[in-house]
Amino acid sequence: MDFVLWVSRVMHIMSVVVWLGGLIFLNTLLLPIAAYHKETRITTVLEAQRRFLPFVWSSVWTILITGMLLMVLSPRFLWFDFSTRWSQLLVAKQVAFLLLLFFSWQAGKVLKRLDESRASDDEAFEGWRLTFQKVVRRSILWGIVALLCAAGMAVM
Ligand code: HEM
Repeated sequence: MDFVLWVSRVMHIMSVVVWLGGLIFLNTLLLPIAAYHKETRITTVLEAQRRFLPFVWSSVWTILITGMLLMVLSPRFLWFDFSTRWSQLLVAKQVAFLLLLFFSWQAGKVLKRLDESRASDDEAFEGWRLTFQKVVRRSILWGIVALLCAAGMAVM
């Protein structure tokens, strides 16, 4: 069982690093550089954003499955018991995870619109580009909330 716990924890943390790391890369490096050089429409930038989405979904499923495993195998977990700080932080983290899931779904929709407006409508393209940036930032915020909950669970 220790092996399952060990592998689950490693895959859980790795998936978090890929997901949040990718979002932070987009938000702090790729998008600002593209905007500064007025190259937000070039294929490389749009491809990089689109190519990140499958990584998001593989991280989502890995985090969910390994998180469930870590949860049911933890001696601190009792079904429907929210009396301990650990279980309260776990619920808070699951809510943050669901919000991240929603924003990732939204990001996929916005990227489609960004693609559609790329060749035609400047104003629409700019609008969808800023919406995508907002969705990425909201995702990062809830990712940090989930990490804070995880850290709290580790020290409890
Ligand atoms: C984006 C969302 C998530 C992030 C950022 C996250 C992050 C983490 C991190 C960094 C750890 C390792 C802490 C340590 O080793 O001390 C961890 C552990 C854990 N995670 Fe997550 N996690 C997320 C979602 C979930 C979900 C959805 C579940 C449950 C379905 C979950 C359940 C757990 C459990 C049970 C542990 C072990 C806690 C312990 O041993 O005390 N996590 N998580």
